Amino acid sequence: MTSSAVPATIQTSHLTRRFGDFTALKDLNLTVERGQVFGLLGPNGAGKSTAIKILTTLLDATSGSATVAGFDVATHALEVRRRIGYVPQLLSADGALTARENLELSARLYGLRGGLRTRRVQEALALAGIETMATHLVRTLSGGMVRRLEIAQATLHYPEVLFLDEPTIGLDPMARRTVWERLLQLRQAMGVTILLSTHDMEEADYLCDALAILHRGQLASVGPPAQLKAQVGADASLNEVFAHFSGAVLEQTGHYRDVRDSRYAAMRRG
Ligand SMILES: Nc1ncnc2c1ncn2[C@@H]1O[C@H](COP(=O)(O)OP(=O)(O)O)[C@@H](O)[C@H]1O
Ligand SMILES: [Mg+2]
Repeated sequence: MTSSAVPATIQTSHLTRRFGDFTALKDLNLTVERGQVFGLLGPNGAGKSTAIKILTTLLDATSGSATVAGFDVATHALEVRRRIGYVPQLLSADGALTARENLELSARLYGLRGGLRTRRVQEALALAGIETMATHLVRTLSGGMVRRLEIAQATLHYPEVLFLDEPTIGLDPMARRTVWERLLQLRQAMGVTILLSTHDMEEADYLCDALAILHRGQLASVGPPAQLKAQVGADASLNEVFAHFSGAVLEQTGHYRDVRDSRYAAMRRG
């Protein structure tokens, strides 16, 4: 399989987003191949959510372009939307509905009907590992269960590409692991391409085939975790890789204090 035979599932070219005078995303060039788990890694404010919102057609780019599943996000938004699933950073499941009702609602939104809808909802409950909780109100479920439910909701229509914005933020280590296993299982079962954002180095290392390190809206480095580590030193951890590449951006842009502060914040959260 050569890269010329199979078009990339996500491709961005000089993707840029400004908010007034502030540039949240600058000149981003990314290629995500089909079937990859791709990580956007960076501290708070790096531009991860901005990139994901543009790729999911929720936000317009200021300049540059992007294709997802073969369609331009700006000119063919509907075609893109049909082919993607999206798990936003903030809670998206409705706590006042049961797990099954949440899935039914999403299935209707995706236009699934009749027997197919019933089958997909049942399958989703099983894959999320929450079959026994189907009739429980979502607000009574654990954080890990809710996240797995949200992933199930976002994949009912068997999307080609799944976007997740910080999927395990706030989860305890056990719950985080069940989400990771669920994502790997989804890729195995559906062949879905996954793009996720995270500031969690362990998550990036465990899940991702390739990483893009974003810092202050710019791509600091991109490659498989092992390759990024090798560029920094034989025994480098991803934490060190991250510090190294955000340091490289620092040399270009100055502002030591800002970088130090954001890194400190990322470490405290991590
Ligand atoms: N709607 C907006 N208006 C103004 N600034 C924004 C808006 N959305 C994001 N930003 C700014 O853009 C930068 C990147 O934000 P975001 O993409 O949310 O970062 P991340 O997801 O990596 O934490 C931040 O400095 C944020 O404050
Ligand atoms: Mg974000």
